Amino acid sequence: MKVDFLGLGLKNPVMVAAGPWARDGESIRKLLEAGAGAVVTESIVSDALDDVSPRIVYDGKGAQNIRLYSDIQVEGWEREMEIAKSAGGVVIASVSANTPSEAAYIASKMERFGADAIEISISNPAFEGMEVMASKKEYVSSFTAEVVANVSVPVLVKLSQTATNIVEVAKAAKEAGASGISCINTIRCILGVDIDTMEPALATYGGYSGAPIRPIGLAAVASVAQSVDLPVCGVGGIENYRHALEYIMLGASAVQIGTAVMVNGPKVITGIVDDLEGWFSSRNISDVNAIKGAAMRKLKSFDEMKIEPIVCQSTGGNCADDCRACVDACMYDAILKTSDDVSVNISKCTGCGICKSICPEQKLILISR
Ligand SMILES: Cc1cc2nc3c(=O)[nH]c(=O)nc-3n(C[C@H](O)[C@H](O)[C@H](O)COP(=O)(O)O)c2cc1C
Repeated sequence: MKVDFLGLGLKNPVMVAAGPWARDGESIRKLLEAGAGAVVTESIVSDALDDVSPRIVYDGKGAQNIRLYSDIQVEGWEREMEIAKSAGGVVIASVSANTPSEAAYIASKMERFGADAIEISISNPAFEGMEVMASKKEYVSSFTAEVVANVSVPVLVKLSQTATNIVEVAKAAKEAGASGISCINTIRCILGVDIDTMEPALATYGGYSGAPIRPIGLAAVASVAQSVDLPVCGVGGIENYRHALEYIMLGASAVQIGTAVMVNGPKVITGIVDDLEGWFSSRNISDVNAIKGAAMRKLKSFDEMKIEPIVCQSTGGNCADDCRACVDACMYDAILKTSDDVSVNISKCTGCGICKSICPEQKLILISR
């Protein structure tokens, strides 16, 4: 499962994303020992401040965080990198800054401290004003160019789906010299409101992460991989090896995992790496590139989609007595429940497909009319 990501020989494509689970040398070392192909540090800034509390909420599916960045000063990272690198793995320093020259200063320090690559985190919705920056090509370009000019290690640019057109922003990063793109960062959110106390989940807006953002991350990765000739690192909502494979099949060269590590600890990395190895060896595939982009190449533009006469059909029988999932979901009133089956009125069925995906027993199929 070795991958050559940005010229860094990773033992596998499973990286740990930037966040407080990679807040210092010791935590990074543990993640590398758990089997991560590489670990990205929590974002390092020039004016490390104390954290606010509380700053993270999780509702069992996704999380909101207002944790901003590392509370270790830049100079303090010299010792942390030494500890992190004692495990012998690949460490990527995440850098956040208000100006390109500040980003370049931190990046060059981190390179000197032993970082194997830099990731510019230019897309954190919890970082005042950064959402706006991440959607502007000029900002992304100037941050990237300044960092690239001041380091000799590869530079990843971490983008977010808050960018109006992530492909244009990714192209700007490439033109400014980026070696790769990571996407996505968290998405601006309010996780919910307690309707008894009328309090929002956290006292301010934060970044949404975890399983619910995976479809957004998948689309971002596919869009960038289709249009920009740079390696892409897929981030967002990965909880198991299947999710990692989805990103790779949509064009990612490697993946990063954040919230799942936060919720389950480093052992989740060990499990995902083992399961991925099992999947590849059971198919006799030794090179990750053999499947990279396989699903992306099947994506069509909307204009290329043909109008095909498709209808739904039941594969027959044994529906649970109380199940009416497909009947209730059919907006075209085309499905009727019979005693232990459903019958489809093909003059009403328009082939939308929702019944097939909603049937808990996968008993519905789509066929040509
Ligand atoms: C608590 C928390 C802190 C985070 N801190 C950072 C950070 O310092 N820098 C950064 O670029 N991304 C940060 N992220 C974003 C993650 O690196 C990742 O892009 C995002 O959470 C989506 O991946 P996931 O769904 O696997 O968590 C943070 C996410 C969480 C949940």
